[in-house]
Amino acid sequence: MNPSKTALEIVHHLPPHYLERTLREDVRAGLSEPAKTLPPKWFYDQRGSELFEQITQLPEYFPTRTERQILEDHAGEMAAASPTETLIELGSGSSRKTPLLLDALKAAGDLRSYVAVDVSDSALTEANSGLSRDYPDLILQAVAADFESQLQLLPREGHRMVAFLGGTIGNLEPDARARFLTQVRELLGKDGGSLLLGTGLVQPPEILIPAYDDSSGVTADFNRNVLRVLNAELGADFDVEAFEHVAVWNEDEEWVEMRLRATHAMQVQLPGAGLEISFDRGEELRTEVSAKFRPGKIAAELEASGLTIIGQWTDAEERYAMTLAEPL
Ligand code: SAH
Ligand code: TRP
Repeated sequence: MNPSKTALEIVHHLPPHYLERTLREDVRAGLSEPAKTLPPKWFYDQRGSELFEQITQLPEYFPTRTERQILEDHAGEMAAASPTETLIELGSGSSRKTPLLLDALKAAGDLRSYVAVDVSDSALTEANSGLSRDYPDLILQAVAADFESQLQLLPREGHRMVAFLGGTIGNLEPDARARFLTQVRELLGKDGGSLLLGTGLVQPPEILIPAYDDSSGVTADFNRNVLRVLNAELGADFDVEAFEHVAVWNEDEEWVEMRLRATHAMQVQLPGAGLEISFDRGEELRTEVSAKFRPGKIAAELEASGLTIIGQWTDAEERYAMTLAEPL
């Protein structure tokens, strides 16, 4: 059998209608409160995944480029510090930076397989077709799963490195982050294995805000895409263009907050969620937080989940950190 053929298969761990059901629950919980919020995993339908790819190429959006540079400079050291048979990547998206890790882990000797985990089918399909061409000798798996609730379904054998790149951990709020890290610790078990975590570092707002509010409006379009997803999946009637993109630095929480602001008062029907909601003029819906870290906080959160740092690398300007940790 040709391994590159089987490589394209997506293993579905999301139960049938999982996305519809959890979207409905998330929307009910988040939009019926006085302070409206939505969780961050609903941006990434096909259009959302493509818009995010465009974000990663914007001059203002430095995290992707910076993380890539750190990998170019240090992936060899990361691989040497953590011999790995299986690389598991959570929230892998386009897997564009992954080859830097795959090459380093292969050169270090032990790598046999790569498992991409994402809620977005379209991102998985895209990513894995490219990788199967470039890595015919690796066993590639694409797993459609939710990294907040389904880590128990991932491979538990052998030496594994769990990579969580892009600063996506910052999109989880502190409680959810602690739960997530504890589950990663549990997945790694006792017999060796590591977490490679990419985190944005605290920066002056003059640098951070443009990364989340670019001059060409791609980020605004990405943010509004969540309303298009609600329209498509729940039959909602959001007037998408009636919402403005807002990005603010929350000094106390040390996170960037993404919001959508209603430019006029309106009623919105969401039949698929059995909901009718109203917006005042100027009312804001919070769609995402992107927490930034200080090195001490990264160490403390990892330790609290039973993980200890075995290596850490930053860029020259100290905007971004990659941390390698293993079970205590
Ligand atoms: N790691 C890539 C992509 C980051 S964008 C990079 O560094 O560029 C965040 C990715 O996480 C998206 O592809 C999105 O679909 C995925 N994602 C968000 N929430 C998720 C969840 N709960 N479970 C699995 N994947 C999730
Ligand atoms: N994980 C990315 C980040 O926090 C996601 C992201 C980038 C994002 N730009 C955004 C989310 C704009 C919402 C709106 O950097």
